[in-house]
Amino acid sequence: MAYKVLTNISLQDTSTTSLKALKTDMLVLVINKDTKNDPSFKDLDKASKSYLSKTIASHLKEAGSSMLLPKVNDITAENILLVKGLEKDTPMHKWLNMYKVIAKKGNQLSSKDLSVMFGTACPEGKDSLWMIEMIAKTIESNVYIFSETKNKTAKKPSVKKLTILTTGLSGSNLTKAKQAAKKGYAIGEGVNTAKYLGDLPANHCTPVIIEKKVKAMTKDFPKLKVKSFNEKDMEKLGMGSFLSVSAGSIEPARMMVIEYKGGKPSEKPIALVGKGVTFDTGGVSIKPSPGMDEMKWDMCGAATVFGVMSTLARLDANVNVVGVMACAENMCSSTATKPGDVVTSMSGQTIEILNTDAEGRLILADALTFVGKYKPSYVIDMATLTGAVVVALGRHASGVMANDQHLADMIISSGEESGDRAWQLPLWDEHQSCTKTSYADLANIGGGREAGTIHAAAFLSKFTNDYKWAHIDIAATASHSSPVKAGTGRPVPLLSELLLSKKLK
Ligand code: BES
Ligand code: MN
Ligand code: ZN
Repeated sequence: MAYKVLTNISLQDTSTTSLKALKTDMLVLVINKDTKNDPSFKDLDKASKSYLSKTIASHLKEAGSSMLLPKVNDITAENILLVKGLEKDTPMHKWLNMYKVIAKKGNQLSSKDLSVMFGTACPEGKDSLWMIEMIAKTIESNVYIFSETKNKTAKKPSVKKLTILTTGLSGSNLTKAKQAAKKGYAIGEGVNTAKYLGDLPANHCTPVIIEKKVKAMTKDFPKLKVKSFNEKDMEKLGMGSFLSVSAGSIEPARMMVIEYKGGKPSEKPIALVGKGVTFDTGGVSIKPSPGMDEMKWDMCGAATVFGVMSTLARLDANVNVVGVMACAENMCSSTATKPGDVVTSMSGQTIEILNTDAEGRLILADALTFVGKYKPSYVIDMATLTGAVVVALGRHASGVMANDQHLADMIISSGEESGDRAWQLPLWDEHQSCTKTSYADLANIGGGREAGTIHAAAFLSKFTNDYKWAHIDIAATASHSSPVKAGTGRPVPLLSELLLSKKLK
């Protein structure tokens, strides 16, 4: 089972290809200051009897805007999409958005392939290799359309091929450019894997169904080794905190551990731990009905682990990573955990569950304790943990909290590099006071209305004393509700960048 959309991404050099004879459904020309002097553009413009340059001058005004032309004179391409390029200092999200729009236009027009000439411009501090990676990643992840649960009205992505047109690349530069395209493609595939799991409705994506999908993926990627733990196994491990979440559901919990060993055998692994609540009703502390459907995306932390592991395997990455997907459904029923119940976590600490809707931290507590046995060099957990992070940071950045500043810094810089941004919130000793209760070692909520995101991380930090750890709260970034409800596949780009560029020393 692969979650790739495109079947092929290739590079083609404009110095050896005649653009006017290029067979493509959509030739995308990103226009900037240098375009008019580009010999391949000049040739193309001549074939159009200057129609292209005149249209650009008269109609293409605003940076990032585009104009679609049907077949032009002697040019073979079925359509030409003219896009006004951006300035160096234009913020990166606009660059990403430009290629997102291009991908969507391809599907709207039922084009089977896109050929993109991206010109010479790129954002400040980036080079054309970065651009090639970004184009491959962004096109692959935006031609994605979720249609699995539509019968009569399904629309599948039409775009199947991407050709990136480059100029004058040869030798080692060409090799590097090919590697950049491959890397972007594999990250885009990881993003789609995560989007797909998130977009599946909760009745099509239970912990057991996820387990099957993970096992199926190892057929594509034999380098991924999966161990799956059922509720009995988890009971033996003493995971009373994790199991308190699935107690109310007929759907049994599962914990999948995916190992990938691409680095030196002696190198300690980096651990990724993902919250995989396949549906969060809140439990007995039930959530209000409006928008509750969005709680099908409460497994996006686990989906991120799945996506990143597939990217690493696709690229034969030179790292050791262990990924934990901690999956359960949070329901209310006569077997559900009740507010005030006390459970014993794998760490031995007892927890008073004052709010059954603060379930993500209960699952993570045990998954984080469990992962310690791998003696990881770093542990990063990803979780749609708190509504409060939406209030604190809005929808553009994930929230990072850590017990190790180098790790937090590397996460934030990987976010900047990949355009999948994150921002740090403090995690101070003062924030720990909230977890006190008379009935257990810890309570699962505290702090009242104040800094809910940080208090959740403070709870997690009680289980991460043995290693360097960061927590990424993705409640605001893993999915969005407007203009349409959809998963984003975040933070797969951030983590892929972090792991592939070997930033963690
Ligand atoms: N899954 C939710 C957090 C969430 C909210 C994700 C909105 C995506 C969008 C989490 O399990 C939750 O319910 N958190 C509670 C914590 C509270 C009870 C302390 C919250 O944020 O309200
Ligand atoms: Mn909840
Ligand atoms: Zn939740």
